[in-house]
Amino acid sequence: MRKILSFDTSCDDTAAAIVAESGEILATMIYSQVKEYEAFGGVVPEIGSRAHIEQIFPLTKALFAKAKLEPEQIDFVAATLAPGLIGPLLVGASFAKAFALARKIPFIGVHHIVGHVLAGLSEPGFPNPPFIALIASGGHSALYLCQSDYRIKLLGQTLDDAAGEAFDKIGRSLGLGYPAGKKMDELADFGDKNRFAFTIAMKNEDHLNFSFSGLKTQALNYIKKIDLNNQKDVQDICAGVREAIAQALCLRAFKALERNQLKKLVIGGGVAANSRLRECVNENSRQQKVELFLPAINLCTDNAVMIARAAIIDINQGKNTDLTMDVSANLSVEMAGGLTCD
Ligand code: KG4
Ligand code: ZN
Repeated sequence: MRKILSFDTSCDDTAAAIVAESGEILATMIYSQVKEYEAFGGVVPEIGSRAHIEQIFPLTKALFAKAKLEPEQIDFVAATLAPGLIGPLLVGASFAKAFALARKIPFIGVHHIVGHVLAGLSEPGFPNPPFIALIASGGHSALYLCQSDYRIKLLGQTLDDAAGEAFDKIGRSLGLGYPAGKKMDELADFGDKNRFAFTIAMKNEDHLNFSFSGLKTQALNYIKKIDLNNQKDVQDICAGVREAIAQALCLRAFKALERNQLKKLVIGGGVAANSRLRECVNENSRQQKVELFLPAINLCTDNAVMIARAAIIDINQGKNTDLTMDVSANLSVEMAGGLTCD
């Protein structure tokens, strides 16, 4: 069985994995830089680049030890080339290219979003394309059509903040630190989602875009009026925000299915770990007889397994990426010999 060594360093996690060509996970590791950013309340790209440089070699060594494998047993190397923060992307991509060059094995450049879409590839219940993918993370919130040949087409996206960004910014104002999505999700379980009114932007408009900046402003205005030491107030804000974001994402995901006459939905990205969003898409899928794939939580947030799994599509099609292919911060990028996201 051929094996893929993969990396994702697009943002604030140094992630590496070894995945078999069948999609089976042989080992996966993540070094989270969250601690580095506590004082800043968000990612600082230069600090991130340095932390990736420090972590990537020891992390890879530990990964091989965990998988009980040697570098000679790797057949392909994959790494995220775009989109993301340039410095962090460069670290993972350069390390992966150097490994490929040294071992004389093919390199496959992967689009981070395609990785999120294909994170569950080869797992029981993962649909054959075509299907709709809802990807919501700290940097992106968008709907994609995964076509029969696995080419990913953008259908609609946020016009301002990403869903995760809204969670993080509101959570920060609530004093919950960074990133705040998971904490808000937990606190929301104890809150009253109806106490504070939140609007779903462009609810009745006929398109597949999102907007979360209005919701953020609404929340920040409420936060000015509440007592942050009163746990109930914080829980109620969390519940209202979680409900509005989950409903907004769910509404347009099902609109995308309807428009494309499809009955298959995949969700991904860090916000896909949100318990209310998972509940919402599950409920709607049951009612509308939609085949739903919900990845495990650790495959929703950034990881390198998803990068290897996306690379499997290229490997199956006999493609690899030239080592001169550079990293890019942009979302819309054509990757020679790689998957495209257009
Ligand atoms: O996909 P991801 O790990 O990194 C990016 O590519 O951005 O997503 C991180 C985002 C953060 O904004 C974080 O607050 C959010 O996902 N997140 C959540 C939950 N877990 C992580 N948001 C809501 N509910 C959660 N349970
Ligand atoms: Zn991501």
